Amino acid sequence: MHTTTDASPPDEADTAPPLQLVDTGTDLGSGFHVPASGDARMTWEYDLSDQRLMTLYQRGKDRQWDAATRIPWELDVDRDNPLGQPEELIPIHGSRAWERFGHDRRFVAQLFLHTTAWQFSQFLHGEQGALVCAARIVETVPDLESKFYASTQVIDEARHLEAYGRFVREKLGLLYPVNDALRTLLEQILADSRWDLPFLGMQVLIEGLGLASFGLLRDTTANGVAPLPHALLAYVMQDEARHVAFGRLALRQLYSELSDTERRDRQEFIIEGSRLLFRRFRGDEIWQVLGLDHADCVETVEKSPSMRAFRSLLFTRVVPTLRDIGLWDERVASAYEKLGVMRYAKHDLDTLMAGDEDAALAADREQRELALRRAQVHETMVVGAAPPAEGTASA
Ligand SMILES: [Fe+2]
Ligand SMILES: [Fe+2]
Repeated sequence: MHTTTDASPPDEADTAPPLQLVDTGTDLGSGFHVPASGDARMTWEYDLSDQRLMTLYQRGKDRQWDAATRIPWELDVDRDNPLGQPEELIPIHGSRAWERFGHDRRFVAQLFLHTTAWQFSQFLHGEQGALVCAARIVETVPDLESKFYASTQVIDEARHLEAYGRFVREKLGLLYPVNDALRTLLEQILADSRWDLPFLGMQVLIEGLGLASFGLLRDTTANGVAPLPHALLAYVMQDEARHVAFGRLALRQLYSELSDTERRDRQEFIIEGSRLLFRRFRGDEIWQVLGLDHADCVETVEKSPSMRAFRSLLFTRVVPTLRDIGLWDERVASAYEKLGVMRYAKHDLDTLMAGDEDAALAADREQRELALRRAQVHETMVVGAAPPAEGTASA
């Protein structure tokens, strides 16, 4: 592992640990450049006929929030277990490496820190991809209503990038490079000239998987277990419901008019992309960086019942959307069956998203209660520290 530049802005520099970039052997070069292709589009039709998209645009404007003030950044995060998780949730729990070193507190703390840093680093890279894709959608989508809506999504994604970036930098101090599978998929999406590909690849697939993953972590950090990451995840998820709704509205219409070949192309893209992203959840880089036996770790991650349940839950948000936009059929179902992710595929998207809204509001309440309790504790401490009033001093 080697240290690169400290990316903290000046006001965080005093308290933040120096940010370390984990060396996974990936050549990061000078960044990530994908030549753009396809048309930038403008329209001269200014009458706004799609009221559903305009309603979504209005909601996007109404629901803006500030990541700098809504998330309780003042709270400490325990780097030895940033999400307050039980040991059973460590992906290699039960492996030979675990049997050998699991009694060592430092080993367990390293596992908690690295698995969390790896997950949140990939969220961070994914959010940057989402920001660039949302901007691309503004540029390439033909109608004005979609351009209006997508522009609110650009600022949403910037906020997510800001929030995850600050969490990784300021609270974890450890950044993993972008995972190969995620980078390959981003490259495919951004290089493609078809304007619906950023929708399908980013909104449906990458964000669909991301959302399920955020949701699992949001729920395990609830009820005061880890209030800062919990609030961060709950607030980001609240925005994502609009993004998913946008993808569904935009693609449902377009995909009903596709030829068989065009539909098949999109299905191939989804199957391949799902396989790629599915593999990334093995967390290969973590085991390699920690110097553990790769085969032992991967075998445990693949076989463990809790990791299997985790992976099948990942697709709960993707499958209903694929059904909704007309891409779901026997072939896609059988590819998903082979990945072993069909167990939870029948979830209803609207119910899940209503739950996301409730979770964000509950996180707001939790913040208010926490702030009230801290104010009370502070008040008590001030009273306790005050010199005794005259005549009340003990003899
Ligand atoms: Fe996002
Ligand atoms: Fe999004």
